[in-house]
Amino acid sequence: MAQRAAIVTGASSGIGLAIARMLGEEGYALTLAARRPDKLSDAAESLRADGFDVLDVAAALSEEDAVQQVVAAHRERHGRLDVLVNNAGVGIGAPVGEIQTKRLDMQLDVNLRAIVLFYRECVELLRAAAQEHGTAQVVNTASISGKRGQAWLSVYSATKAGVVGWTEAMNKELAPEGIKSCALCPAFVDTPMTDFAKAGGVAAEQMITTVDIAESVRLLLKVSPMCLIPEIIFERPGDAL
Ligand SMILES: NC(=O)c1ccc[n+]([C@@H]2O[C@H](COP(=O)([O-])OP(=O)(O)OC[C@H]3O[C@@H](n4cnc5c(N)ncnc54)[C@H](OP(=O)(O)O)[C@@H]3O)[C@@H](O)[C@H]2O)c1
Repeated sequence: MAQRAAIVTGASSGIGLAIARMLGEEGYALTLAARRPDKLSDAAESLRADGFDVLDVAAALSEEDAVQQVVAAHRERHGRLDVLVNNAGVGIGAPVGEIQTKRLDMQLDVNLRAIVLFYRECVELLRAAAQEHGTAQVVNTASISGKRGQAWLSVYSATKAGVVGWTEAMNKELAPEGIKSCALCPAFVDTPMTDFAKAGGVAAEQMITTVDIAESVRLLLKVSPMCLIPEIIFERPGDAL
């Protein structure tokens, strides 16, 4: 069995892939989950080429069965869970009068409901890790939109505010047992998700990097068990609150 193991969702690109690489560097055996199988297996291969122990499980995380399959596959391969990274997310903009129910449901299901299901399915594994080492860590990728709602990204903003609230509740419920949760709340990060902003005139060089986010998660792994970091806000100079 691996000495330390992690699940990373939305690990096929962007922020999730950067966090997975950092976890590999820190010695974690990995399970990666994301929707499109080819893209995910390419990402997994790139991490294996760096020498990391990687299982990839293609899964549409809007489905409860898919969440359960990811956790079951992880348990069978790695047998333990020290870090859970709930990072998969989707953002679809629309004016309020034109919100399509299918897109509303997709954002609620992937951005918020899947996180609830992952906690439920993983809590016993996380408890076991916390009992062994005094701590286990969950990272939930929220957004700056979860701290202040964005016009035309209203549903996305609401789901991310939900992630912030859920993270706070989990810290009240689980942190006394050593299971710490942190909500990451970034402004624009240079990933495929912000291609729309790049097309709209925000240069990639003006954005936060995926390495910035991954390094913040490395910090979460390094602090002592009695240090809980509940939330990290990443602003861009000029945008600050
Ligand atoms: N980029 C930003 O500026 C920014 C800012 C704040 C927060 N975030 C959040 O950061 C997280 C990662 O996004 P990113 O910027 O790194 O974008 P990204 O590169 O597009 O990554 C999104 C990841 O989520 C996966 N995903 C999407 N829908 C899924 C589904 N139904 N089932 C399973 N996996 C699914 C994607 O897999 P597929 O490609 O196969 O669908 C991909 O691996 C998201 O939660 C996003 O909301 C991003």
